[in-house]
Amino acid sequence: MDNRPIGVFDSGLGGLTAVRALRQLLPHENLIYFGDTARVPYGGRSRETLLRYARQDIRFLRTHDLKAVLIACGTVSTTSLTTLQSENDLPVVGVVQPTCRRAVSATRNGKVGLIATLASVRSGAYEAQIAELDRGVQVISRPCPLFVPLVENGRIHPGDVVIETVAREYLAPLQDAGVDTLILGCTHYPLLERVIGSIMGPEVTLVSAGEESARELQHLLNTRDLQTGNTLPGRAEYCVSDRVEDFERIASLFLQEDLHHEARRIDIEQY
Ligand code: DGL
Repeated sequence: MDNRPIGVFDSGLGGLTAVRALRQLLPHENLIYFGDTARVPYGGRSRETLLRYARQDIRFLRTHDLKAVLIACGTVSTTSLTTLQSENDLPVVGVVQPTCRRAVSATRNGKVGLIATLASVRSGAYEAQIAELDRGVQVISRPCPLFVPLVENGRIHPGDVVIETVAREYLAPLQDAGVDTLILGCTHYPLLERVIGSIMGPEVTLVSAGEESARELQHLLNTRDLQTGNTLPGRAEYCVSDRVEDFERIASLFLQEDLHHEARRIDIEQY
């Protein structure tokens, strides 16, 4: 049993897709969330920059006494996970492995689509993980660099002509390839689940990196006996590196909780 909080981070709002799942799976756990909104998007940046940012993000989170860190960011997970794990003396969980496991078990025709940031697609990490799990599964990948800025601007609703036009263009090659499973390999993308789902159709299974990473963390806490003994609902603290208002507005909508005046701004460059 361990009552310390879990640290969760992403470049912005995307990691909330993991938070939402954590709230359901582990309702008594305390969470500290950091969204690096001053430096979002991460997706087009170099490995060196991403590692520098991620180190700062973890250093900030670790100013709290944590029991585990969830990298709720595909871009950091695909480029820096093993380095961050080796540098930290606590469990650090990423999104790639659990997401690929779910996709491989979901596909029936052996054709899996992957949409993610440019850095994640360039890294080849999802493809490598799937090949390790099942060489027979074909992966068709597509970076979607406009999705993150659109999500950060709240353009997430079905019927919004901008997001629908962009999504249709990005998803067309995956539809043409006949994928029956689609990995939302950037944690921002499940915020577009309804838009993406309606384009891909009900026969395509969507696999959310945010949700699968939350399940992985739950499994880790169980196997290492790190679950909280709290019986009251867990608390979540939200920190961002830029204006709190926009984050609070979209986070409130997505988490269906009133987070106005809840987020705190921190200076990430200090860490
Ligand atoms: N949500 C993150 C990811 O999963 C970062 C996206 C970005 O900032 O470009 O890749």
